[in-house]
Amino acid sequence: MSSILTDRFGRFHDYLRISLTDACNLRCQYCMPEEDMSFMTRSSLMTADELDTLAGLFVRHGVRKIRLTGGEPLVRKEAAEIISRLGRYPIELAITTNGVLVDRFLDVFKDAGLKSVNISLDSLNAALNQKITRRDHLDLVVRNIELLAEFGFRVKVNMVVMKGVNEFEVGDFVAWSKELPLHIRFIEYMPFDGNGWSAARVTTHEQILELLTDRFEYNKLKDGPNDTARAYQVKGYAGTFAVISTMSQPFCETCNRIRLTADGKLKNCLFSQGETDLLGALRRGEEVEPLVKQTIQAKYARLGGQLSEDYHETDPALLKNRAMISIGG
Ligand code: 5AD
Ligand code: SF4
Repeated sequence: MSSILTDRFGRFHDYLRISLTDACNLRCQYCMPEEDMSFMTRSSLMTADELDTLAGLFVRHGVRKIRLTGGEPLVRKEAAEIISRLGRYPIELAITTNGVLVDRFLDVFKDAGLKSVNISLDSLNAALNQKITRRDHLDLVVRNIELLAEFGFRVKVNMVVMKGVNEFEVGDFVAWSKELPLHIRFIEYMPFDGNGWSAARVTTHEQILELLTDRFEYNKLKDGPNDTARAYQVKGYAGTFAVISTMSQPFCETCNRIRLTADGKLKNCLFSQGETDLLGALRRGEEVEPLVKQTIQAKYARLGGQLSEDYHETDPALLKNRAMISIGG
């Protein structure tokens, strides 16, 4: 298909991830720098109207799925309004949240036709969870995950696996999906600005499976064409588990994702150094489409042109990117 969303390698980008804010009610170490994080000012954020205008433009050019991210999207004051407005587009609408505020949004999600919720949760152990998030909301998040499942939402639980931190918990997450239809996703730890990443702290896809083989008998499931996760199921379990192997086996050939940051910058890859200021153009009354086209054309074949093919060779100090909290995952 020829579209401003098709890149030099023939990849058509029909999946847009929009960050609503870089603010968050948690402080996860792997997501934000330890030193002072400077947050976006309110006037630099896309207003609900501007966000709607840009989303509408992407939908007209073929975007079929929009995922809302953050920071934590639900701390954005206009979150409910934005979700409701995006719910009017003929797209699949989804959200990635840390789950803390989810119980207050069940009706908003339902009315907007949002069916799939991804929750980030890295430890089921109270002390460790508190250490990772620097907050104490584990019980609330667990309850909200179970609530979403009860209400019939499709629930994915994202766990970032960090060697020596939480990797021994992968089995407990899988066990949680026995009775509940939860889709557990183990994500290989990725490098972002100031997040303490090193190759030695990555637990790979292969190692995650090794950690599970003694305890579970599981089968490989069939994956969709643009899936970033490779899925498995334990015999007789209500839920599934999957591994997102960005570091050890990147899946860039089938990438269909682009990202719009909360301050209206388009990123053609999670690891792209460059970004294009769509909001500035919109505010100046300039045409946005040519900028979108250029940004898509500039997309590298793999890993933003920045990470090494072999992740052991990636030097985090040399990467130029935002912190994860201001990209939106
Ligand atoms: N490595 C891997 N995954 C990460 N996420 C945030 N930071 C990292 C990182 N450094 C995850 C979040 C969220 C998803 C969008 O990305 O936990 O679930
Ligand atoms: Fe797409 Fe970039 Fe992620 Fe590869 S690294 S899958 S190109 S966003």
